Amino acid sequence: MQYVRTAVIAAAGHGTRFLPIAKAVPKEMLPLVNKPVIHYAVEQACNAGIERIVIITSRGKQATEDYFDLNPDLESVLAQREHPYLEEFKSISRMADIIYVRQSEQLGLGHAVLQAKKVVGNEPFIVYLPDELILGDPSVTDQLLTSFKETGSSVVGVAHVNKSDLPRFGIIDIEKADAIPYSINKVIEKPSITDAPSNFAITGPYIFVPEIFSVLQSTKPGSGGEIQLTDAMNLLLKEKKILAYPYTGDRFDCGNPIGLLKAAVHIALHEPKYADEIKSWLQNLKI
Ligand code: UTP
Repeated sequence: MQYVRTAVIAAAGHGTRFLPIAKAVPKEMLPLVNKPVIHYAVEQACNAGIERIVIITSRGKQATEDYFDLNPDLESVLAQREHPYLEEFKSISRMADIIYVRQSEQLGLGHAVLQAKKVVGNEPFIVYLPDELILGDPSVTDQLLTSFKETGSSVVGVAHVNKSDLPRFGIIDIEKADAIPYSINKVIEKPSITDAPSNFAITGPYIFVPEIFSVLQSTKPGSGGEIQLTDAMNLLLKEKKILAYPYTGDRFDCGNPIGLLKAAVHIALHEPKYADEIKSWLQNLKI
């Protein structure tokens, strides 16, 4: 079986839930304390042994490329000052082999993933939605990679969501929820609360066998007029198994302001440099 060496990070969306700031700052570049949201997906992939990262990008997202690029001027300033941050600063641009692929029109997540076809080739790969921040040990990436190694089947990260959130996600229909990973029968994109076949939403990451690309090529626009990854999954399910993995970890939806705030507080509380101060500030908050 081929191993997963490539990650595709879909980061070309408009980010309308983050307007007005998304007008000028890509939502993937919004800060979680002192690192941008997308840093966490790249870091998690690299820590799990992924060798190359394909970032699907779009107009106005140069900040993402600058972030992962070398910055010799700033590096030499930090070196001259013997700045304690120098090594960590250097490590960002050396973290991974990053390839940028442009999605010229935002035709949906499925379309975004399809843009990576030429770079990924005929290999399994992992897809991240950078907004979906999942922190845990082992990482969600390690959990999915273990499942893929054991089964050779595509596998997607799923989480229980509140009833009111069901219409925002792809919801899985599973046979019976006893053995993990679950075998998916079908996926319903953005169902009404009454039509949702379970409480399990696909949050990603997703590990796909390369056959997903040919299926994506014939996937017609679906919900919202977009080429939906979930519609492609339903087509792939006609030929191949797709598993659902209810990962362990803390999940934050950083695609909206409240989710981003919660994630930032969580990270600060777990970071020795900030933990004491943020804890005492929170404890003294008068609400
Ligand atoms: P979202 O559903 O969050 O859409 O996309 P969005 O446009 O980014 O944000 P809102 O809803 O307008 O606030 C889920 C993921 O798929 C990517 C996004 O960048 C995000 O990571 N995506 C979506 C693309 O890369 N291309 C697309 O055409 C659509």
